[in-house]
Amino acid sequence: MDPNSREYETCLCRHVTRGEIEDFIRESGLTDLKEICEKLNVGNKCGACREQIQEIIDSVRG
Ligand code: FES
Repeated sequence: MDPNSREYETCLCRHVTRGEIEDFIRESGLTDLKEICEKLNVGNKCGACREQIQEIIDSVRG
């Protein structure tokens, strides 16, 4: 599946999709990767998805 699709599971460890991450960024207004990972409980297990989460932050805020 396309990683830019809202249905794409960005964080495999926590089963969180790109769409859920995008919505959380918009609703919370948060921009800090660490804070978003803590509050949404994402990107905080193996950490492999964090770079991608940062890209989502940039695309939503941009
Ligand atoms: S894939 Fe997100 S923490 Fe492992």
